[in-house]
Amino acid sequence: MEYIQRPSAMIQNYLESSIKWDLLPAHLADTARYGTLDGGKRIRPVLVLLTCEALGGNPEEALPAAAALELVHCFSLIHDDLPALDNDVLRRGRPTVHVHAGEPMAILAGDLLLAMAFGELAGMKMPSDCIAALVEELANGTRDMVVGQVFDTLGGLPEDIEPLEQLQMVHRNKTGALLRAACRMGALCAHADGDKLDIMTTYGEAVGLMFQVVDDLLDVTQSAEHVGKATGKDSALGKRTYPGLLGIKGSETVIDELCQQACDAMAPLAEKAIPLQELCRYMAIRTR
Ligand code: IPE
Ligand code: IPE
Ligand code: MG
Ligand code: MG
Ligand code: MG
Repeated sequence: MEYIQRPSAMIQNYLESSIKWDLLPAHLADTARYGTLDGGKRIRPVLVLLTCEALGGNPEEALPAAAALELVHCFSLIHDDLPALDNDVLRRGRPTVHVHAGEPMAILAGDLLLAMAFGELAGMKMPSDCIAALVEELANGTRDMVVGQVFDTLGGLPEDIEPLEQLQMVHRNKTGALLRAACRMGALCAHADGDKLDIMTTYGEAVGLMFQVVDDLLDVTQSAEHVGKATGKDSALGKRTYPGLLGIKGSETVIDELCQQACDAMAPLAEKAIPLQELCRYMAIRTR
């Protein structure tokens, strides 16, 4: 996908070269780098850079915000894979962080990445009100991701809503929140007005839910070898999922509808919308 190659190379380079891994004790640095640097698709930081650019901002200036979001995402994956949560041994085509470095180090490396994420925002060369808005956005996104993880693993959803609404609530939080934050952080880096922020919020919410519906689908349609993480696990763990509730065809229909919603939301941006529309279509048909 040509639209993601350039921004994802920018992020990869930033994560490798601009983060001060060397200031950490060597074993902690090794683990944090292991959990961050190799194999991720970088969808969230790419969204930050492309939304910033679509609204006339400079993606170079948004790089620390993009990296911050990827650090939070990597922290969420390290903890998600732990034995106490999903108990997974394969991630991004390699042993998970706790298999590689042990559980205590995995827990602590996750904690570290979360702190480093906010450090990235604090160091940005932007007006302080803009930095404060970015901090709030990332804090809210991270909070909602944790809320979603709690719903997903420990329950506590409202009982007076339909199963599909409950499932949406899990997915909008555990996965949608960081994708929504990505789009809004990109808009904030471009100093967008309220209308532009609303456009990116609508796009981010549709794409955010869609991303997890696709993830649910890949869990039943793809091999672990292909996606680089365990598959067939959601139903084994008794998790409620889109294919579980609506079947494969029904889930594909939902993905098409959400993709269309996201692309339609971008219409006011005319040709500036094209990279984000293309990225959305790629996210809808991805197989890993
Ligand atoms: C995996 O996210 C976790 C979900 C929220 C579904 P990604 O599919 O973006 O994972 P990486 O970063 O590419 O490994
Ligand atoms: C994880 O959802 C969402 C996170 C907050 C990490 P999943 O548990 O479905 O993600 P995978 O399938 O392990 O990547
Ligand atoms: Mg999980
Ligand atoms: Mg998981
Ligand atoms: Mg999954």
